[in-house]
Amino acid sequence: MNHRILGLTVRNFRTLTDTKLPLGPLNVMVGPNAAGKSNVLHALEFLGDVARQGIEPALDNRGGFDVLAFRGGRRPVSRISVGVEGIWSDFASAERPDQYELSVSRPRLPEASRARHRMYRRERFTQHPVEEGTTVDLASGSLTVHGPLEAVSRSPYKVGRMTSALQLDQVSARPSDSASVGAIGDLSHHLARIRVFDPDVRAARKPWGISESGDYLNSDASNLADFLRKLKEDEDAWELLLEDVQKVVPQIRDIHLVTPPDAVSHRTAVELEENGLRGRTRLADASWGTVRILCMLALFHDPNPPLLTCIEEIDHGIHPHALSLMAERLREASERSQYLVTTHSPIFVNELEPEEFVPCGRRPSGASVIPARKLRDIRGVIKASEYEPMGNLWYSGSLGGIL
Ligand SMILES: Nc1ncnc2c1ncn2[C@@H]1O[C@H](COP(=O)(O)OP(=O)(O)O)[C@@H](O)[C@H]1O
Ligand SMILES: [Mg+2]
Repeated sequence: MNHRILGLTVRNFRTLTDTKLPLGPLNVMVGPNAAGKSNVLHALEFLGDVARQGIEPALDNRGGFDVLAFRGGRRPVSRISVGVEGIWSDFASAERPDQYELSVSRPRLPEASRARHRMYRRERFTQHPVEEGTTVDLASGSLTVHGPLEAVSRSPYKVGRMTSALQLDQVSARPSDSASVGAIGDLSHHLARIRVFDPDVRAARKPWGISESGDYLNSDASNLADFLRKLKEDEDAWELLLEDVQKVVPQIRDIHLVTPPDAVSHRTAVELEENGLRGRTRLADASWGTVRILCMLALFHDPNPPLLTCIEEIDHGIHPHALSLMAERLREASERSQYLVTTHSPIFVNELEPEEFVPCGRRPSGASVIPARKLRDIRGVIKASEYEPMGNLWYSGSLGGIL
């Protein structure tokens, strides 16, 4: 199984009026504050929420349609779309990828009939079961399967007006024997696991109940202690993690996982052994950067990552000399799953390949331009500079994505 996401398409989601972003194993967005980098991560997280909770809760979590829809332009926007293409069914390929798009419309009616404003969703999945594609279409209250192998399922199935096909396992009457529906289940599973990693250092410092699952590091790293306990079960993985932590924070001699005597039963706390100090340092008293580095390295050593992990501001709080190790580990991790990250560090960008670099900008109209330059142009600038490091070129303004 070599599932992956090859691209993201977004329309009218916050600043992303018309974004088509190809995705490789590792993608690093740079650009001014408020360029719309996080909005790209949020668009993916939105699809994750749709898969986990449904369309209406995913909209409500973000303040509803009107808060989420692009607020620029002459007239209010009436449709938001987010789509992905990639490989999640058996016969898809990079040349013939599977596709999924969700559109939510909110037609504008005259003020007097405002009460009649309703939302509609349309979802379209295209899979490639052999030669000819199959399309599963959800529009208003019905689901229709079109395709050569799906003749049986041609008649529409009734579904709720705002039910997402990503939650098809919750729809009772569905074409369960269809290969396309199986592929939708795979996509839904992947989207539901996408995480936008943005460690909350204050939460990560706290002991965590070991009754919670340590299999999966939460997006805010609040279960760091429990996740480390799980990682420690694999001695080799733990050894590698400790070596990395020591390279970045040489002060640290060892990391211990303990049950604090004063804690409610079954909690794990992290304690550090530091050079030159008697006793141990509780994570609660460790440096802010150390906690964040621990969160990042734990993530890179995750043995069971989701299909795609997004990381906010990867360089935040990390010494510039440590960034090459972080980039190296991130690239190794991107051989097992995909990463979409943001940074403001030219030093981190110096470690990247041109195809990993995504400059981002924003127009005076309020719309994001992502990517702000074509890969061909980026390569051209690098060549013309006689292969100056990419971070230096970006910082000097030659590659776009600057103020
Ligand atoms: N519905 C919306 N329409 C237009 N712009 C929006 C909307 N919601 C948020 N924004 C804008 O998005 C910008 C923040 O984008 P963000 O992705 O967080 O930037 P960054 O590149 O720093 O991560 C802000 O300027 C904010 O005004
Ligand atoms: Mg941001």
